[in-house]
Amino acid sequence: MTIGVYPGSFDPFTVGHLDVLTNAAGLFDLVYVAVLHNVDKRPAFTIEERMEMIQNVLTAEHFSNVRCGTFDGLLVEYARSVRATHIVRGLRATSDFEYEFQIDAVNRHLDSTLRTVYFMASPGHSFLSSSNVKEIGLWGGSIQGLVPAVNEERIRERLAKK
Ligand code: PNS
Repeated sequence: MTIGVYPGSFDPFTVGHLDVLTNAAGLFDLVYVAVLHNVDKRPAFTIEERMEMIQNVLTAEHFSNVRCGTFDGLLVEYARSVRATHIVRGLRATSDFEYEFQIDAVNRHLDSTLRTVYFMASPGHSFLSSSNVKEIGLWGGSIQGLVPAVNEERIRERLAKK
């Protein structure tokens, strides 16, 4: 059985993330979306909010082979705990490469058996990031089409209050 772990901060989960997840769900028997619970990072959305919004997406999109989990500490430990065979990440512009290259090097050092696969972002999503969504939302701009419709209102309201 092939099992992928798709880790990230998902603060919040965007349509770019959904694109990567859809590709991963088509490739692996089972995929875990692993939300990083990192207290140092001061996320805009709590771990509970991020998990709930991802769960909304899984239900809305009728994913039957995707589960959502949370982790802190090392990703490779979490991957081992769910018997993952691969890590999944998305790549947008070349600027992502340097960052991903470093993460991969560290993960390989920690677990030489675990490999990462990358999905290129759709051209329409190459500029999209959770940070952009937060900035647009904070200034009252439209986030329609940038986050899954099922979570749009909740994200807009939440960011407007900040
Ligand atoms: O969405 P992000 O913030 O780019 O995701 C980064 C993430 C969660 C993949 C990375 O920070 C991570 O794996 N953190 C857990 C700690 C760890 O395992 N570090 C070693 C690899 S850098």
